[in-house]
Amino acid sequence: MARVIAVANQKGGVGKTTTAVNLSASFAAAEQPTLLIDIDPQANASNGLGIKTRDLEKTVYEVLVGTMAVQDAVVPTEMPHLDVLPSHINLVGAEIEIVDVKNRERLLAERINSIRHKYKFIVIDCPPSLGLLTLNALTAADSILVPVQCEYYALEGLGQLLNTISIVRKHLNPRLEIEGVLLTMYDNRLRLSNQVVQEVTRHLGEKVCKTIIGRNVRLAEAPSHGKPVILYDALSIGAKHYLDLAQEILDREKLRFSGQNHNGNAADSSTPEIATGAEAASAAVSAVASAMQEPIKQGK
Ligand SMILES: Nc1ncnc2c1ncn2[C@@H]1O[C@H](COP(=O)(O)OP(=O)(O)OP(=O)(O)O)[C@@H](O)[C@H]1O
Ligand SMILES: [Mg+2]
Repeated sequence: MARVIAVANQKGGVGKTTTAVNLSASFAAAEQPTLLIDIDPQANASNGLGIKTRDLEKTVYEVLVGTMAVQDAVVPTEMPHLDVLPSHINLVGAEIEIVDVKNRERLLAERINSIRHKYKFIVIDCPPSLGLLTLNALTAADSILVPVQCEYYALEGLGQLLNTISIVRKHLNPRLEIEGVLLTMYDNRLRLSNQVVQEVTRHLGEKVCKTIIGRNVRLAEAPSHGKPVILYDALSIGAKHYLDLAQEILDREKLRFSGQNHNGNAADSSTPEIATGAEAASAAVSAVASAMQEPIKQGK
């Protein structure tokens, strides 16, 4: 069964898409069957992998609103072991269209059930908001990976995100773990970058990924060629950093797996009940909605 990792942070431009695309490609390079789900209406991850989304008729939008089966919308990429469920600008409307649908936060989780066994990893690229699309991703996920840009306001908005994670855990998905906080766009020539690393590590300790993603122009160039960095410039430092991140997560998976066997799968028995009532789900949505009232500074 695939491990589902949502790459999320409501702050814009922090490296979510760059991470989702290149982490997925690095898993695929390690011969781990991987599906990248693009649940951002901007469709940057799909376009970054060379998919022309404008005229696509089979996308995550049709899957979410229920007019298409997920396996019919998944497309292969140039890379063996890497498939994509592309997005489309129509997805902007999906949040409104599904607002009255029963279990609207669980749509993605339900839709991907039938294909989870085909992959080792499913990586979800989220939009820069804490709306219904991100909520669907967090409800479907086993873990959340949070890219944080090494800049002055690095920690801003993180409290709100952690609050959302606890709301999701309580009402929608008690399994949700924090895969890690990933420092991105690190520039070792800048004192600020080093200060951010220290500050984030001081606050979040072990939750911070050991791998730090450096600022690398190849990472910024690759999407305009429709390729992950590993195909665009395999020897670049950006390619190396994302391979390191994939290895870090794979190593953790191995540990987790051996731990589970050792404990006779004890983790399952301690998993709390998932709240299924419409009431619980509405409570989660309104709590997230009220959290969203706070102004969000865009990092771009
Ligand atoms: N490590 C990096 N080095 C250099 N440029 C980077 C790096 N990571 C991301 N970028 C660039 O920074 C910009 C924002 O990155 P990205 O699109 O991944 O962020 P995002 O969080 O997905 O944005 P949004 O919130 O709009 O979805 C892009 O132009 C991207 O190419
Ligand atoms: Mg993005």
